[in-house]
Parts: sequence; C-alpha cells; structure tokens
Amino acid sequence: MKIVAFANYKGGVGKTTSVVNTSRALQQNGHKVMVVDLDPQGNSTLTLSRRNPFEHEMTVGNLLSDKDVNLESCVVNTPVGVDLVPTNLNSYPLVSLLPPNSAKRIYGLKNKLSEADASYDFILIDCPPQIEGALITNAIAASDYYILPIEGESVYALQGVDHLVQAVDLIREDTGSSIRLLGALVTMVDTRTNAGRLVMEAINKYFGDMVFDTVIRRNTTINKANLNNRCVCDLDPKSSGCLDYQAFSKELVARIGSGK
Ligand SMILES: Nc1ncnc2c1ncn2[C@@H]1O[C@H](COP(=O)(O)OP(=O)(O)O)[C@@H](O)[C@H]1O
Ligand SMILES: [Mg+2]
Repeated sequence: MKIVAFANYKGGVGKTTSVVNTSRALQQNGHKVMVVDLDPQGNSTLTLSRRNPFEHEMTVGNLLSDKDVNLESCVVNTPVGVDLVPTNLNSYPLVSLLPPNSAKRIYGLKNKLSEADASYDFILIDCPPQIEGALITNAIAASDYYILPIEGESVYALQGVDHLVQAVDLIREDTGSSIRLLGALVTMVDTRTNAGRLVMEAINKYFGDMVFDTVIRRNTTINKANLNNRCVCDLDPKSSGCLDYQAFSKELVARIGSGK
C-alpha cells in the first residue's frame, strides 16, 4: 500500500481533477484504491460519491478529531468502485479547533490510515490549497509520496514552488515522515500557444526528470465531467482527458511499483 498526496498551495491547478481521475484509472486497471478528501471544499467527495458533501455524516473531520471514530466507519463505497473518505466544510472547525499541542493535528491521519485494509494498493489524498495548517501537516505526515500538479498554461506556475517544497521538507523532518516528491504533473497543457511552450520549458528546466512524461492536455471534456460529477473516462473514454489520465496512472505505477 502506497499513500500519495496531491499537493500545491495554489487552487485551480488540477489537484482534485487529478486525484479523481487517477483513482478511477488505477481502479480500472485492477488496483484497489481509496481517496481521502482533505480539502473541506469537498470537490472530490462530490465527484466520486455523486452526493452533496453535506449529506455525508462521517467525514475526515470526524476521523481526525475523534479518537473513537475508526477509519471503517468513515469509508464510503462510491459508484465508480473507488473507496472514499469524504469531507465537507464542517471538517474545518473540527480540525482547526484541535488544541495546538494535540498529536491529532499531526499524526491523526497517519494513525487512522494504519488501520486501513492491507488490500488497498493506493491511497490518494486530495490536499487543500495551503502551505501550512493541520490538514496539510496530516497529509505530509501520513504520505509516502507527493505529486505536485502544476498548471502548464500559467506563467505563474512556478511561483512559490520553492516554498512549498521547503515547507514539505520542514514538516517531513518535524514529523519523521518519509514523504518524497514523486514528480510534477503538468496539467491544462496547451503546447500550441507560445505561452504554453515557454511555461513547459521553464517547468522542465526547474524539475528536470522529476516532471512526469505524461502531461494532461487542456480538454473541455474534463470540465464537462467535473460539472456532471463524473470521471472523464466514464463520460468519454476516447477523450484526450481520459487517455492522458490513463497514461499518467500507468506512469505513476511504474514510478512507485505496483503498490503491493
Ligand atoms: N486538463 C484540463 N482541461 C480543462 N480543464 C481542466 C483540466 N484540469 C482541470 N480543469 C478545470 O480547472 C478547474 C480547476 O481544477 P481542479 O481540479 O478543481 O483544481 P484544484 O483542485 O487544484 O483547485 C476546474 O474547473 C476543472 O474542471
Ligand atoms: Mg481541489
């Protein structure tokens, strides 16, 4: 079992889209997958469960804040065959009101995931767009790897990446985590434009071979799938979005090993 966080302190870079569609692609390839939604906005909760996040009674907020809540009581089986620990905005106060010196602020998720069924191959964590805070600290303490989704079209894509990598390094040291960067995943790529090409060059120069070979192209079907709470491969298996996430999931498995 490998635990992989998708993290970037920026919003709108494709974290949730990547978690949701990578989880589905892994599941379609025969892997057993669980998604932990750590972003209280609950976007991956909505897409995967196809239910309003507030309909979920037991969330990651309960899991992290209450020692008597076990993992099993929070796991939801979703229509796409991926298991999910859902969240909603109620998780914010539950986690942020934990006392500052509470071990749950750091190790809550790690401890609870240690109860996870060993038959899971991958646990993917959708992180909130933050650089610090109890949720991100929990994600870093619990994960084996992190993937940095980067928006391939934004000239500001690399701004602040140093800080994020440094913040992860600091939290890793403080928490005794063995988390490491698995790679940068470039999303919303449009290499037909000059700006797109320049951003891609800058990202390759910065990350070198840590950039995944697979890039996720800009694709309107992805947007349509998100709007309809569907995975892109369930909406249109021939779309570039589906093909890209399938290719990416294979590259991820190759980088990590099968997860067993
Ligand atoms: N490859 C893509 N092509 C087109 N739109 C995309 C693509 N990836 C993400 N989007 C859209 O970009 C927006 C932000 O994506 P999202 O995954 O929610 O980012 P984050 O979780 O980092 O905030 C959403 O509206 C989503 O539908
Ligand atoms: Mg998101």
